[in-house]
Amino acid sequence: MSAENKILIRQFLPVDRNAVRKICCDTADLGKPVENFFSDREIIADMLTDYYTKFEPQSTWVAVVNNEVVGYLMGCLDSGRYAQAMLWRIAPGLFCKALWRGNFLREETWRLVRIALKSLKLGGFKRNIPEKQYPAHLHIDIREEFRQRHIGRLLMERFLQQARNENVRGVQLSVRGDNFHGRKFFEKMGFNLLGEFPMVMPVGKSFRFGQTAVYGIILNSA
Ligand SMILES: CC(C)(COP(=O)(O)OP(=O)(O)OC[C@H]1O[C@@H](n2cnc3c(N)ncnc32)[C@H](O)[C@@H]1OP(=O)(O)O)[C@@H](O)C(=O)NCCC(=O)NCCS
Repeated sequence: MSAENKILIRQFLPVDRNAVRKICCDTADLGKPVENFFSDREIIADMLTDYYTKFEPQSTWVAVVNNEVVGYLMGCLDSGRYAQAMLWRIAPGLFCKALWRGNFLREETWRLVRIALKSLKLGGFKRNIPEKQYPAHLHIDIREEFRQRHIGRLLMERFLQQARNENVRGVQLSVRGDNFHGRKFFEKMGFNLLGEFPMVMPVGKSFRFGQTAVYGIILNSA
């Protein structure tokens, strides 16, 4: 990468919000746009980014090239806090917004609800991951044209260092079982496979049975 294309890694700022939301929607389906299975970007972006950008922005990192955000790592150092904020602070507003925007009149919404229920029935949300050992989690996405230039590695190193400094014991993450590139990347970054859990995945207007792979890394001993 030339000098003018230098990569800057820095903490998230409110001015990055739109760029982060756009990258999230552009990469939500195995690195491809969310429209492959759902058309309301606003709802998906709220659901997937609001906690990190509004409640824990200090743990979110962005990669900037030529003054443009080209990737992010959204982190959370305490997944218990995340669950509480999602349940009480984010989900109620999100439900009302989805209602207001007419999402519940759309077949695609009910298809996703049916898919989630199928996963629930298969036990896909019951994960025997020791939460005390892996209290932190993350999501990472890089714009397609900036992948494989070590931007993911730089973001990951920065976040893991932050978690280490804050004495977090370990970090976990979930990735679709069929995301072979993502899995290779996490393994390269030192994560170990903790388990694979049944999951039903949207595929266009249909679905298929698959797995979610959960990886973890221990940073500080107890
Ligand atoms: C997965 C992703 C975050 C990796 O980021 P990246 O900037 O492309 O990866 P890097 O260039 O930093 O690669 C770091 C290491 O992982 C390996 N790696 C990265 N992408 C890879 C790929 N597609 N296939 C095989 N190995 C890969 C690299 O070889 C590299 O190893 P090295 O440092 O020894 O050379 C990025 O490709 C991406 O956003 N993909 C789409 C969305 C996604 O899958 N997100 C994660 C799932 S939740």
